[in-house]
Parts: sequence; structure tokens; C-alpha cells
Amino acid sequence: MNPTLTPTYTNRLPPGPRPALPGANLLRLQRDPLGFLTHMARQYGDFSCLQIGSRRIYLANHPDYIESVLVSQSSAFQKGPALQRARLLLGDGLLTSEGELHLRQRRLIQPAFHRQQMEGYARVMADQAARQMAGWQDGAILDIAAEMTQLTLRTAGQAFFGADLAEQGSELSQAVSDLVELFGQSLNPLSGLLLHLPLPQTRRFERARARLNRAVSGLLPAQRPGDADGSLLGLLLQASQQAPEVLDAQALHDHALTLLLAGHETTANALTWALYLLALHPNEAGRVRDEVRLVCGGRLPCAADLPRLVETRQALSETLRLYPPAWAIGRQARQQVFLGGYSLPQGSLVLLSQWVTQRDPRYYPDPERFDPSRWTPQAAASRPRYAYFPFGGGSRQCIGESFAWTEGVLVLAALLGSWEFHLLPGQSHTPQPSITLRPQGGMKMLLHRL
Ligand code: HEM
Repeated sequence: MNPTLTPTYTNRLPPGPRPALPGANLLRLQRDPLGFLTHMARQYGDFSCLQIGSRRIYLANHPDYIESVLVSQSSAFQKGPALQRARLLLGDGLLTSEGELHLRQRRLIQPAFHRQQMEGYARVMADQAARQMAGWQDGAILDIAAEMTQLTLRTAGQAFFGADLAEQGSELSQAVSDLVELFGQSLNPLSGLLLHLPLPQTRRFERARARLNRAVSGLLPAQRPGDADGSLLGLLLQASQQAPEVLDAQALHDHALTLLLAGHETTANALTWALYLLALHPNEAGRVRDEVRLVCGGRLPCAADLPRLVETRQALSETLRLYPPAWAIGRQARQQVFLGGYSLPQGSLVLLSQWVTQRDPRYYPDPERFDPSRWTPQAAASRPRYAYFPFGGGSRQCIGESFAWTEGVLVLAALLGSWEFHLLPGQSHTPQPSITLRPQGGMKMLLHRL
């Protein structure tokens, strides 16, 4: 434990902005969550408190506090209100379930993400990347965010369900966009209420939810336990046969939807931001490209190349630091907890922000600079473990982390091995902190074939 962290606990309120006008904090948080949370951390230190009406939101920035919430005191917390609301969409899938149910589900699903499955997934990833690139023309201007969403959605469909989502791809992406936008309003304490009112956005939410549910229902009967070909769904179906009390038809549906959504949207964001940063830093892009040429020599990358795609992985690590697709994690205290030298009552909401901590100059000098060399093994080992947590941590750590690294590295290698990506002048490239961190208005790029 860092010696500067006080070991005694107090009932006082941690420091934080105390506006003269009620509602001012909420307004600032909604207008610019990334800027406001960063301001709180830099102004008020490692543990601060935001009062919104009668509600207090605690922001924990120190890696030791983050470790405490995600790992050592994790049983004292449950998921925050945003993910609890996500139950409306995802049911009791792995992302939203709690306690004993979550533990049992996690044990059941884990084998689908074992190392030996990755080789098959890697083939799907490279094939789908090749298919995506086959539709590109030299000199074309494309929205890379949309391209990456299509690519990762199709990859998730093929890898997890053994299904070709090419036909439904754009309809599903639109449904996902609608949902991400709607859940983006979930920082608003009233958003739970809004979902029960007959507003246009509520109707859009219902339509998007129905579309996704139809698509997932269509995918499920496509396989039977007998054809468990190593795909995630095959393994799920097998598991549901062995333990129907844990994995009934509704649970299967919830898991399938959760994995389809969680398994593509975040990775699409990561790839989009990686291409953006590499377009801004041609020297770094050159290093990655040289490595890809050396390792793959003109063919598509495969799982066996991964240990040698070191520069590619470092560029992705640095991207996930600067543009973490999951930019904040919320937790609600089930009981009184002690954190940061303060005593927090039951029900307190604690926010951990990857965006804020991963840009902290104490751990990342000149934090805004894109510098993949921060990820040499020595440099990475010199920082506290929870100064970097793009995939969360503890018992709720992302189950798809190794899938995401494999897909991120292989797809980046495949794309940079064959194409150059250029930003267009006059575009803003502002990150939009919704449920994930998407570029606002997409990411138009000019493509040149190498
Ligand atoms: C760059 C890509 C990804 C990022 C940044 C990311 C990030 C995260 C984070 C931060 C969490 C923890 C949330 C919390 O503690 O509240 C999480 C959980 C989860 N992620 Fe990912 N994820 C990525 C890719 C994937 C993929 C490819 C899958 C595929 C199936 C996936 C499935 C899940 C699931 C099911 C959970 C819930 C796990 C549990 O609670 O046991 N994610 N992810």
C-alpha cells in the first residue's frame, strides 16, 4: 500500500466540487464526462466526491483504491446502476449477473475462452479481415469506425455462433448504435425512469431490442450440441445439456446476446482508435508495418505469429491506454465500505475511470503522447498493476480479454500489412463517452493500397 494513503478512516466527505447552484455538477458531468472527471482527479486528488442532488458519486483514482474495489473488497460491491439498467436489454447474462449465479455462469463459459480455442478463433479473425479488405478500393474514403464494427460483428458471429452475419450486419450495427446512444444517457440519474415513458427514444430502444432478440433467436437453433465444433455457442449448448438448471433457454439467449454485443463493439472501438493514432504517427505505423513484413512476409497473420508481433501489440496497448473502449467502471456498495481513508455508507456509488487513471502523469509522463515504447516489459513492470485496467480486474475481469488481444493484434497486422490509412483534414475525432468510447460522427479515412 502506498505510504501516502492514510490508514485511518473518517466519516467526513472527501474533497470535490461544491457548486453554488443545484444541478450544476450533473450538467457538467453530462456535458463533458471525460473532462469533468479528469478535472476532479487533478484538482481533488486520488479520492474525491461529486454531489448530485442527494446522491454522492465517489471517484477513486489511485491504483491501490482501484485494486481494492475490483479485487480485495470486490464482494462488498455490485455493479453500478448503468449495468444494472443494462439488464433490461441483456437479462442475466454474464455481464450483468451477480453473486453465486455469476460465479456458476463464469465457470461454465470460461472453457470457451481457453487458449486452445484461440487458434480456431484466430483463423476466423484473419479470414474476416481479408474479406473486409477485399471490399476496399485504392483511394477510397471510408468510415473506418463503421468498417471495424462490421468486421468485428461478423467475426463474433462466425467465431461464437458459426454464423455468417454479413446479411444482417448493417441492421444489427444500427440496432447496437441506437442502444449505445440510449445507454449513453445512463449517467443521468433519471434515465431509468425515462425508459418507462412513451418517448421517441424509448420506442427506438424497444425496436432495437426486438431486432437484436430476433437476430439472436435466429442464431440459437442453428446448432445442436452434437455439432459442438469448438465455437462458443457449441460449447454453451453442451454446457446447457450438462447443467440445464444453470443454463436454461432464457439464460442461453441472454448469454448469446451479451457475448455478441460485448464481443464486437469494444474491439471495433479499439481498432478504430488504433488506426487513428497510427495515422497521426507515421513513424510508429512504419515500425508496425516493418514488423508485419518481417513476421508474415506478405501472407495473412495467424495465431503462431502472435508472440513475434511485439510492436503491433505495444501499439494496441498504448491505444487502450489513451482511448479505453470501456472508459469507466461503476460499482455500488452493498454494505458500508472503507476506501481512500473514508467510510462510505451502503449504497454509495464508486466510479473508477480508465480514461482518468491511464492518463495520470505520475504513471505516464507526458500522458497525452502516443508512445508504444511504454509497453516494453521493463517499462510496464515499473508501474502499479492497476494504473492500467482496460479490461477491468478481479472476478469480473473481461472474459473476452485474450480474444480481444488476439483479434486486435491480428487485424491490425493484417490491415497495416496491406493498406495505408490517412486522416482527412477538418475532422474533429472527438471521443464520445457513451457506454463505450466511440469517435463522435465516425472516423472517415483515406485508404491507399500498399
Ligand atoms: C478491447 C476489447 C474489450 C474491452 C476494452 C473490454 C472491457 C471490459 C471490461 C472493462 C469489463 C469489466 C466490466 C466491469 O467490471 O464492470 C468487461 C467484461 C466483460 N467482457 Fe469485455 N472487453 C473487450 C472485449 C470483449 C470481448 C471480445 C468479449 C467476448 C465475448 C467480451 C465479453 C465480456 C464479458 C462477457 C464481460 C463480463 C465478465 C464478467 O462479469 O464475468 N469483452 N470487458
